[in-house]
Amino acid sequence: MTLTNKERASLLAAAREVRKFAYVPYSHYRVGAALKTKSGRVFTGVNVENAAYPVTNCAERTAVFKAVSEGEREFEVLALVTDNGGSPCGACRQVLAEFGLDTLVLIGDGEGRLVREMTVAELLPEAFTPQHLPRP
Ligand code: THU
Repeated sequence: MTLTNKERASLLAAAREVRKFAYVPYSHYRVGAALKTKSGRVFTGVNVENAAYPVTNCAERTAVFKAVSEGEREFEVLALVTDNGGSPCGACRQVLAEFGLDTLVLIGDGEGRLVREMTVAELLPEAFTPQHLPRP
């Protein structure tokens, strides 16, 4: 998959912009994601925290679940923006792996600058995937 710098910048900008909707009364750590499907649609997501802390949903999973719940399962690239260029958590890596190890992940900082870029396979080596389950 070839991604232009313009496409990178546009997805990072979308992830940065949506951070304003992050619901973060506990951590105050705003996370924004923008997920581009192979069909060309973009789904954004933010972290949604909860007084029962573990119920919190990360921005990446919000974006993936929005996409899947609208019929999209093939992803090209996910842009993730935090103030300090933080990496996707383990749960989000696993959720991304479910839909493809080749999905590209762009990690950006609070200014929308690209900090790192890697595939889900690189983020989650030896991933457990649907192929590991026996087919009925
Ligand atoms: N968070 C994300 O949204 N994505 C990640 O991959 C890492 C963590 C959120 C969860 C919580 O709302 C806050 O960041 C602090 O952990």
